[in-house]
Amino acid sequence: MFSRRVPDDRRPNRLAAVLADLRRRGVPLIDLTVSNPTRVGIYYPETLLAALADARALTYRPEPFGLREAREAVAEMYLRRGVRIAPDRIMLTASTSEAYSLLFKLLCDAGQSSVLTPVPSYPLFDHLTRLDAVTDRRYALAYHGAWEVECGDLDRAWTPDTRAVLAVSPNNPTGSALTARDADELVNRCAERRVALMLDEVFCDYPFAEAPLLDPPALERGDCLLFRLGGLSKTAGLPQLKLGWIAVSGPTRLVDEAADRLELICDTYLSVSMPVQVAAPALLAATSPIRDQIRDRVRHNYRALHRAVAESDAGVSVLAADGGWSAVLRVPAIASEEALALDLLTRDGVVAHPGFFFDFPHEAFLVVSLLPQPDTFARGVYLILERVHAA
Ligand SMILES: Cc1ncc(COP(=O)(O)O)c(C=O)c1O
Repeated sequence: MFSRRVPDDRRPNRLAAVLADLRRRGVPLIDLTVSNPTRVGIYYPETLLAALADARALTYRPEPFGLREAREAVAEMYLRRGVRIAPDRIMLTASTSEAYSLLFKLLCDAGQSSVLTPVPSYPLFDHLTRLDAVTDRRYALAYHGAWEVECGDLDRAWTPDTRAVLAVSPNNPTGSALTARDADELVNRCAERRVALMLDEVFCDYPFAEAPLLDPPALERGDCLLFRLGGLSKTAGLPQLKLGWIAVSGPTRLVDEAADRLELICDTYLSVSMPVQVAAPALLAATSPIRDQIRDRVRHNYRALHRAVAESDAGVSVLAADGGWSAVLRVPAIASEEALALDLLTRDGVVAHPGFFFDFPHEAFLVVSLLPQPDTFARGVYLILERVHAA
């Protein structure tokens, strides 16, 4: 009766089952997997959401791509990053996840098309592709002191049914930003093979260094069809508002046709609520203190992580990264990642993701969120280092 888009086996993995049990029993835990910025002591002024009560939202003005003023505000935000995109090339969505789904509908035929996704990367790609009946083929990011695209692997994964290459910059969980060389390699191939590039930039506001993350020059060349994805979830630290966007650029004829086709898709769903569209310009302006707090938090924890690791002799290292909300620890592969993560959970009350959750090419890695409150984060890292040292 049911489609194969939803897997038959939906049982939680071992770690998730143990975690659920500990939570049920009320065991106190240090959660180094938290990805919800509204639950980590970031200050959100009580008036922040006042713009959602704007009476202009009482009148429903359905627009396939969303209200013009909201799209103008998103275009201005891009301009501040040095990226020039016209408001009529911006489409509002209910989330970045929905943006992926809309783009798969635009580019892929059910059961007959593939997209190339990086590994290690965002685990949700598995479900996002499957739910749209798209084949997910993986290409490797390799770590040689910094992460880079394995071009040989990308070419091996590429087949005649490939319709898009997905890239995430900075990537989740590696924190690696697309380098100029990687952007060149991706754009050249996408342009030559007439395949779209989908660039998820949800973490672009959170560089670890003081300097902003620069847009690789190849993205500006305009010779491949490029879809940039972003949203309030990360940019404003407001995942509950459900507002994302797609920004299209590239060869004019292709961009025009993509926009024309997307109009039909977006018009079919009209999924973005009126209040959030009306509020978007005010929200984007008012949330810069939230962004600043989150940026300070991840930078603080990232530096603390480096210090703690440098002072420990547990044989752990922090992989180099450019930004985002997480960091990767390489740990000695004495026990399996799963055994280590289970030990941390049951003996130390620390929740950390093992590398295999993100399909790291080999063991042993742990991924930690940089969002927790600094004391909590430092205590969790201390317990990880102690546990690894004792192994
Ligand atoms: C790389 C990446 N893209 C997209 C999303 C989802 O964003 P949204 O809440 O806008 O769907 C996440 C959430 O963690 C993410 O890590």
